[in-house]
Amino acid sequence: MEFRGSHILSVDQFARDDIGTIFDVARRMEPFAQRRKVTRVLEGAVEGNLFFEPSTRTRVSFAAAFNRLGGSVSSTTGFQFSSMAKGESVYDTARVMAGYCDVLVMRHPVEGAVQELADAVHVPVINGGDGPGEHPTQALLDLYTIQKETGRDLSALDGLRIALVGDLRYGRTVHSLTKLLTLFRDVTFVFIAPQELQMPRAITDKVRARGLAVHETEDLGAGIADVDVVYVTRIQQERFTTPEDADKYRGFYSINRAVYEKHCRPGTILMHPLPRDSRPGANELAADLNSHPELAIFRQADNGIPIRMALFALVLGVADRVEEGARDVAWYVPERIGTQDTLDYGERLERSR
Ligand code: NCD
Repeated sequence: MEFRGSHILSVDQFARDDIGTIFDVARRMEPFAQRRKVTRVLEGAVEGNLFFEPSTRTRVSFAAAFNRLGGSVSSTTGFQFSSMAKGESVYDTARVMAGYCDVLVMRHPVEGAVQELADAVHVPVINGGDGPGEHPTQALLDLYTIQKETGRDLSALDGLRIALVGDLRYGRTVHSLTKLLTLFRDVTFVFIAPQELQMPRAITDKVRARGLAVHETEDLGAGIADVDVVYVTRIQQERFTTPEDADKYRGFYSINRAVYEKHCRPGTILMHPLPRDSRPGANELAADLNSHPELAIFRQADNGIPIRMALFALVLGVADRVEEGARDVAWYVPERIGTQDTLDYGERLERSR
């Protein structure tokens, strides 16, 4: 695809080569993402960050990514602090913000609202999550993480076996990731969810139409037994009609160290888009796994920065110019930065013994 000037709204717009392009640029962004080098390639450019649903990682990492490229960020968070609380439409908000900014990122509770924003403006728009719809940048950073954690390059992702656990009905990250993985051959999907929260039929049909294997089960232990990656999600309580409806499923699945050691093969990567629900009775991914070498969740969150930097550089047409005038940072950089990302699979396995 032609990235320059494009919106990023759905993973459906990517071909396999496009993923390769994004990941190549993301790899070049790593020294800047890790704050070991500085670039000013987007100096003077402004990003508009419009977040109308709770967010920590996505909002902060989009802004951080834009800042790392030398640009500045204007943001509005929550309906109550924006003119939408006064009845302003997405269209009017879009037209105004497009006058102030060179690129817009929006998260909104209504599926399709980000498309509506994109239709109204001439600047690139990136979907930061639209209700239960899609979360394309999360899927890209998830795939980038899978690639790094399993030590495979993109072509070696054919044959991947992945279990997706939890609220597959309302979880937009699992919708986008599943669709993105259909670009690869021989991928096996194990969808582990209470029956009412299984993956939407339209998505499983798409997976099957590509000739890929789909197993749907409620049985956690059997489902996570023979896969390369276990991707856990929280119950998306905000999408249920009442809190009591969501409560029925809270704690339905909980993966802790004992469950992992009993059922998973050594080396199985544990992922979660975050936030984990750490309240009593939930704990879909327990804190006793925090020091486990295969718990990739914080490295996964770190990967949001290089991926989002790559997308900004591509849609604003500066991906080839990022290294121009780049320099090393002058301040003290702790050892830790970078090393948590470069630890390879063999080393991690060694440490886990
Ligand atoms: C996810 C989201 O907002 O869809 N969070 C994120 O962006 N990393 C997952 C979630 O909220 O459960």
